[in-house]
Parts: sequence; structure tokens; C-alpha cells
Amino acid sequence: MSREISLPADLNPLFHLGGLGFYLFWIVAVTGLYLFIFFETSIMGAWASVELISNEQYYVGSLMRSLHRYASAAMVLVVTAHLAKEFLMKRYQGPRWFSWVSGVPLLWLLFASGIGGYWLVWDERAQYVAQTTATLFDALPIVVEPMAFGLIDNATVSDRFFSLLIFLHVGIPLALLLGMFIHIQRISRSKSLPPKRLALAALASLTVVSLIKPATSMAPADLDRSVQSVDLDWYYMNVYPLIDILGSGPVWGLLLGITIALLLVPLLSRAPEPTIAVVDPDNCNGCGWCFADCPYDAVYMKPHDYKKNHQQSVVIADKCVGCGICAGACPTVTPFKSVNHALSGINLAHKSNATILDEIIIDLKKMSSPGRVLLVGCGHGANIDGFAADDVATVSLECTAQLPPSYIDYLCRREGVDTVVLTGCREGDCYHRVGVELQQARLRHEREPHLRFKDVAVNVHELWVGSGGRGAIADKLRQLRQSDKVGQSGQSDQPRKAPSAAKGVTDEAS
Ligand code: HEM
Ligand code: SF4
Ligand code: SF4
Repeated sequence: MSREISLPADLNPLFHLGGLGFYLFWIVAVTGLYLFIFFETSIMGAWASVELISNEQYYVGSLMRSLHRYASAAMVLVVTAHLAKEFLMKRYQGPRWFSWVSGVPLLWLLFASGIGGYWLVWDERAQYVAQTTATLFDALPIVVEPMAFGLIDNATVSDRFFSLLIFLHVGIPLALLLGMFIHIQRISRSKSLPPKRLALAALASLTVVSLIKPATSMAPADLDRSVQSVDLDWYYMNVYPLIDILGSGPVWGLLLGITIALLLVPLLSRAPEPTIAVVDPDNCNGCGWCFADCPYDAVYMKPHDYKKNHQQSVVIADKCVGCGICAGACPTVTPFKSVNHALSGINLAHKSNATILDEIIIDLKKMSSPGRVLLVGCGHGANIDGFAADDVATVSLECTAQLPPSYIDYLCRREGVDTVVLTGCREGDCYHRVGVELQQARLRHEREPHLRFKDVAVNVHELWVGSGGRGAIADKLRQLRQSDKVGQSGQSDQPRKAPSAAKGVTDEAS
């Protein structure tokens, strides 16, 4: 059997692009602060002070300057990949429009921050970029005094102009930072830093590149001469050759066109049916577990409508993406209770968890095989259609974390399920951000609500194989069928801390 070789989830940059964006910003900020200490804010002194930082500080200045430049370049790469990934995963639909739309101005601020940095070096590249940018802005009808006039010759550029540049090069990144925090406003427990190992690997890679190829300046700017040729930074200056070739008007058209197209992306396709979670205050005990688990900050707690000294949860419909993770977190959903098992605090409006459980039980009752497997799929992992058989019941949920652990306990204890195979998105890359890790923590007894029974816990197999994982699921089912030990200890793919005691809200006498 062939095995896919893949990076561990915490080292895969594609799983942490947003967090890497933040991390690179902090590297740029810290190194920028260092450079600022030694930078001279004047036309005559700027270029020489940057040379001094690069050449006279026993590698430290050069390293700081190079890290500043390469981390900025890496930020363009990472943010572009982040945008592309969110687009491909269609994470711009429904309530996610906010994250998408608030991301678009960040692109402008990011490019403005980077380009502004190149001006400060005041070398030939800065001269080219400054003069070309001025031409671009002069084409705007709102610019009354043509900016380019200020950059005609050495005599016309003043130190005040340089102070303005510094002000912009600090102010625009601060606006970027503010925008980045607004961008993640609508998600809870946002991953605004990469895992430690990835952060270290990124810093080490940038350091190696900085030492091998330190950032350098071109010759000092001289506005009395025109620049003949220039080494462009293609990450930030990719649009500049177009200004030379097409002229300012068409380039503005292109930039505004791309921006408007990006802003309109959320209208591209609408989620088929807006499905949201609803709270039943009668059955909400105010534990707050749904509030703790909701990845989209769509749940808040308030005093109970009519139960004194109790809390109840409330779903903010505009923010709810319908992942169902809250319904998997609610302890009142447990089927072990003596009252009507359909009563629970929170459910997806179009299909309650109790209905899902009933459907599974109906399927199980039709099966004659003794060694029954329950295969749980998710709407964004591998398609599990076609795996149902006389020994395999299947259920596909919006997110794997919609399945309450008490259902696993119940189905194994009361309904003859021998083995549960949980599939879903790849670990660290959950479509609903944290569904996989929350469900793992519940299964491993690290988070409420958790599995209760030791013998059940060891028969839960986790297959976080993503949408391309049908083959792995087929292999797993084949392996289970071939094994005469299905249902016994040691079969789990991932070692799990066994539950030590039965606690919780159920009334099962274990
Ligand atoms: C400086 C640039 C950016 C940074 C630092 C950044 C950072 C982040 C972070 C940290 C998250 C949360 C990730 C998580 O916890 O799951 C996020 C989410 C998101 N970002 Fe960005 N982002 C940037 C630009 C953009 C751009 C340009 C777009 C698209 C136009 C975008 C679209 C999104 C979307 C749609 C989400 C939400 C994903 C979801 O709902 O699960 N971001 N971003
Ligand atoms: S998890 Fe259930 S019981 Fe707890 S606050 Fe949410 S709806 Fe209420
Ligand atoms: S379904 Fe529940 S967990 Fe998911 S976004 Fe809505 S309220 Fe939050």
C-alpha cells in the first residue's frame, strides 16, 4: 500500500498562511524599528545611513536590513497564497464575506507599506519608483499640484518631503496592522500566529537567505540624471513596468478593476441554503460550551429568558456559517437521558442532531452483520457516498465536530456499533477552521463534552485525510474487515488518552 508523504500539520505553511502573514508583519516591524534608530531622515543622509547600517555593524545591521526586506517580500507571497487558498476553498461565501472583503484593503496597505520602504533608501531604485509613482498619482484628477514636479531635480526635493515619507512608512503599516485585526474580528480563537516549529523554520530560512544574499542598495539617487536601468523588487514593483508601457490611466483601470472584482467575489456564488444554528432556551442549561466552541464568534451568552440565575446561549444569525460544531458541543444532546432524547439546547435549524441519530439507528437496524462500523464523513472531507454496506453505516455531517461524543458512546453501547471511523478535513486544515482539533480534543478527553467509556474510545479510528481521501477510507474499511480483532484495544490510528472516569450529564449507569 502506498503512503502519502506529507509535512506534519504544524509545519505545513499552506495550513497557516494567515498566521504566517501576521508573523512576518511582526518580523518586519521589529527589524524596521531597529533600522529606524540608525536611519537619517534627510535627502543627503538617507542613502549613506543605510550603507552604514549594512556595512559597519558587524553583520547585525545587514542582517536586520535583509530580514526587513525578505520578510516583507515573503509577506506578499504568503498573503497572495492565503487569498488564493481562501478563494479555492470558497471561504468567501455567506457570513465569511466579512473576512474576504476586509482582506482586500489589506492588499493596498501591504503594497503601499513595501513600496514606501524602498523610497527611503534614496538610491536609483527609489528614484525610479518615486518618479514613476508620482506620474501615476499625477494622472488622478484629485491631485491638484502635480507630485512629479516635486521630484524634478535635486534642488526641488526637500528634507520635509523625506519626513513625510517616514511618516507614511510608519503610518501605513500601522493602518495595515489595524486592518489585520479588523480582518479577524469575526472569527474566534483566530490563528494569528503560526505554530512554534513553523515560526522557527520561517525565521531560520529568512536568516539563511539574508546571510547568503544580503539586501543592498543601488547607487545614490540623483534627480539631475535619469535612471537608465533598475533592479526591481518583483514582489512589490510588478506593476511599475506596466506604468511605463501602458501609461497611468490604464494601470489605474487595472488596479481598480482587480480591487472591485475582488470585492465582488462574495457575490459570485451563494451558499445553497442559508442554514444556521438555533437555540432552544427550554433545554439550554447555560453551560457555555457552544459559545466556547463556535469558530465564528456567532454565539454569545446572556441571562436566561425565564430561568432565574441561569444563562442561555444566543446565536447571531448573521455570523453563523452553519457548521454545526455548537450542536456537537452541547451536553444536553446526550441520548442516554431518561427524558425525550430529541430535546437539546442547540441544533442546526434544518436538521437536528436527534434526527441524525434516528437516521443512523434506522440504518443500523437494517444491517445483519455483527461487526458494524459507523463511518462518519464531513461535507468538506472525502465523499463517503458508496461506502454504506451491510456492515457499514454512513453518516455525512457538515463538520465532523457536529457529532456529539455521547452519540459515539451511545451507538457503541446500545446499538451494536463495533467501530467508529471518523473522517474529515486534513488535520490542521479544517474547512470550519477548528472542527478537527475540537473533535480530537473531545475524543482524547481533553475537552468537554468528551467520550465516557474506555472500551468505546479505543474503537474510534480517526482518518483526517481531506477531500482526496476516499482511497484511505476504502483501505481502512478493508483492513477492518480483514481483522478479526475489530473492536479491540490497539486498533486506533492515533494513540489516545483513555477516559479515566465516567462523568457528565448522562444518566447511564456504567
Ligand atoms: C495582511 C494580509 C492578511 C493577513 C495577515 C491575514 C490573516 C488572516 C488570519 C490570521 C486569518 C484567520 C485564520 C484562522 O484563524 O483560521 C484570516 C482569515 C481569512 N482571510 Fe486573511 N489575511 C490577510 C489578507 C487576506 C486577503 C487579501 C484575503 C482575501 C481577499 C483574505 C481572506 C481571508 C478569509 C476569507 C478568511 C476567513 C477564513 C474562514 O472563514 O475560515 N485575507 N486571515
Ligand atoms: S452548549 Fe447547549 S446547554 Fe450549553 S449553553 Fe450552549 S445550547 Fe445551552
Ligand atoms: S453552527 Fe454553531 S458553531 Fe457553527 S457558526 Fe453557527 S453558531 Fe457557530
